[in-house]
Amino acid sequence: MPTSETSSPAASLDPTAEGMARVDAVIRGRLASDVALIEQISHYIIGAGGKRIRPRLVLLFAEALGHQGPEPYELAAIVEFIHTATLLHDDVVDESSLRRGRATANALFGNAASVLVGDFLYSRAFQMMVSLDRMRVLEVLADATNVIAEGEVLQLMNMHDPDLAVEAYLKVIRYKTAKLFEASARLGAVIAGAPRDIEEACSDYGRALGTAFQLVDDLLDYEGDTHALGKNVGDDLREGKPTLPLLIAMERGSAEEREIIRHAIEHGEVERLSEIVAIVRRTGALQATREAARTEANAARERLFALPASKAREALLELCARSVERSS
Ligand code: IPE
Ligand code: IPE
Ligand code: MG
Ligand code: MG
Repeated sequence: MPTSETSSPAASLDPTAEGMARVDAVIRGRLASDVALIEQISHYIIGAGGKRIRPRLVLLFAEALGHQGPEPYELAAIVEFIHTATLLHDDVVDESSLRRGRATANALFGNAASVLVGDFLYSRAFQMMVSLDRMRVLEVLADATNVIAEGEVLQLMNMHDPDLAVEAYLKVIRYKTAKLFEASARLGAVIAGAPRDIEEACSDYGRALGTAFQLVDDLLDYEGDTHALGKNVGDDLREGKPTLPLLIAMERGSAEEREIIRHAIEHGEVERLSEIVAIVRRTGALQATREAARTEANAARERLFALPASKAREALLELCARSVERSS
């Protein structure tokens, strides 16, 4: 990919800067529909940006494994479409009102339109996959989208359950979030024609990084800043989502503290957010969650050493540290 040799200082910090501009052009081109509301909503959410981590993984792995050619841009756009579709659906399910610093599509256009445009993006992604004419690509992404849906439904079943086991929580985040990171990383290897052991190393990296990423997302729901995140903090508590910060705080807290958190999970009491944040802090649950994320990110790092040294590999290493320390 023609991304690494450039004189711009911003691009030299980010070997994917030029590649991501190409991905953006593919994304915009493939949003075309003669149904006005589809274009309006999809441009609304995609135009708000987002960190674009998953498409970056596709490009970086393809580059790290020496791939030349245009397929990674198409694949990266496909992965971002799937991600965007999950966000449209997730915000309806979670009744969220803020995403990427803007009112959510469901808040602005309604639940029905959000769900249907999410379906449009999913199916557009599959049209794009078919035109790549690679059965392995279809297989990886069909599996990933299926597992993401399972993760979201599993999570729904776990709502308001303060007795959720940590293992069950981890299964949800591996399914709903880590799976698409895993698929993105794996696809970079697939498109580069890498041998199976390298493909597995890439996939392990993606799964571990995605797990770290969601662990941090869950802690930022307690210690983050709404403005920096572009999402409302406290949403998880309002929904009664038993995430790791709460599970650890219940394990470590006094009987009284445990009861406050149990009650909040059972009833979704966002009014007691500041009290619960204080408990979560006092018990060191936020630190412990970040520590769990660091362990995952370190496992991701380890797997990268199966790849030859390159600028792209450096960027993937950096992504591990950034995913753990991030505040937005
Ligand atoms: C949000 O993903 C959903 C989670 C898995 C936490 P991102 O944090 O990657 O969302 P954007 O694309 O940057 O908005
Ligand atoms: C997001 O989970 C996972 C998917 C979109 C599949 P969350 O519900 O925790 O993500 P945010 O906080 O809304 O971004
Ligand atoms: Mg959500
Ligand atoms: Mg969240």
